[in-house]
Amino acid sequence: MPDAIVVEKLEKTYPGDVRAVRGVSFEVHEKEIFGFLGPNGAGKTTTVSMLTTLLKPTGGRATVAGIDLLTDPRSVRQRIGLVFQESTADDQLTGEENLLLTAALYKVPPAEARQRIEKLLEQMSLGAVRHRLVKTYSGGMRRRLELAAGVLHTPQVLFLDEPTLGLDPQGRAGIGQYIRQMRDQFGVSVFITTHYLEEADQLCDRIAIIDHGEIRALGTPHELKDRIGGDVLTVVPQKEGPDLTPMLSAIPGVLSVQKGPDRYRLKSDQGEAITPKVVQACFAAGAPLASVALKRPSLDEVFLEFTGRAYREEEGPSATDLALRMNTFRGRRR
Ligand SMILES: Nc1ncnc2c1ncn2[C@@H]1O[C@H](COP(=O)(O)OP(=O)(O)OP(=O)(O)O)[C@@H](O)[C@H]1O
Ligand SMILES: [Mg+2]
Repeated sequence: MPDAIVVEKLEKTYPGDVRAVRGVSFEVHEKEIFGFLGPNGAGKTTTVSMLTTLLKPTGGRATVAGIDLLTDPRSVRQRIGLVFQESTADDQLTGEENLLLTAALYKVPPAEARQRIEKLLEQMSLGAVRHRLVKTYSGGMRRRLELAAGVLHTPQVLFLDEPTLGLDPQGRAGIGQYIRQMRDQFGVSVFITTHYLEEADQLCDRIAIIDHGEIRALGTPHELKDRIGGDVLTVVPQKEGPDLTPMLSAIPGVLSVQKGPDRYRLKSDQGEAITPKVVQACFAAGAPLASVALKRPSLDEVFLEFTGRAYREEEGPSATDLALRMNTFRGRRR
């Protein structure tokens, strides 16, 4: 089976020399859930927009479902599904009517559309609310309806740009389950962007970490965490003093020490055992500690490791008018 997406040195520079995507390369395998994880402004939406033919790259190339993005964007559009963070469902229609409308837009033959809608309503647990107006739906129901709409025309690759944004943690976890179900049952490959570390960790087969338009790390969540090479101990002295790096490095079990503005980041393969030793050693060196935190390798740590700065996921999305973009997308298909 060929890869679902192949990207080679893809670039986007917006007018004003804004280098949003700076030559990214990666492959998404058949039936894989591939996560594109990064903070605000990292270039996630720009990448999705290019791969879904909504935005022209300024460099590089890519194939989606085996088709070249630049030479045959029309065929690419026929083979992909797209779900954005913003609600694109019509509030004044019922869930079922929304799906019928989408099927008509995508020119799915009516008999086939009927069958698929039945199946999707059931799979997305929307059977009981199918005749209710969408304006009465919860955030999670809406998102499930949009996921259903996204696969109605049997795409080979499904693109999801921040599909869980604005949902509470419980709702987010639920959506993950439905995304996996769609992959398993329809054999669709999934490209998902998110800035939730936990979500990417639990949902994705592989993850690319993107920052400032560049891929900083790529692998399975497990591989990425393994690359950290041990537990991370963050040590914060009560006040600024002489550099503790040599002293900390000499403690048996400490593998490396990284000095930050007000703290030290230690790596160890025996975090729990060395924590008391570190506290004692600092105290003995006349540098009592304000706090010590021990963390198992997490994607949070992976991000810090590969970008040199902490991940902040609470910022929310930057305002890109995706609803407008969705209309462009639908318009072009007709
Ligand atoms: N139309 C545009 N013109 C100029 N600059 C843009 C445009 N759209 C996005 N950018 C810039 O490109 C960079 C990447 O933006 P993009 O929307 O791709 O990031 P993102 O990773 O999706 O962020 P978020 O998590 O906030 O959605 C940002 O610096 C952004 O300000
Ligand atoms: Mg975005």
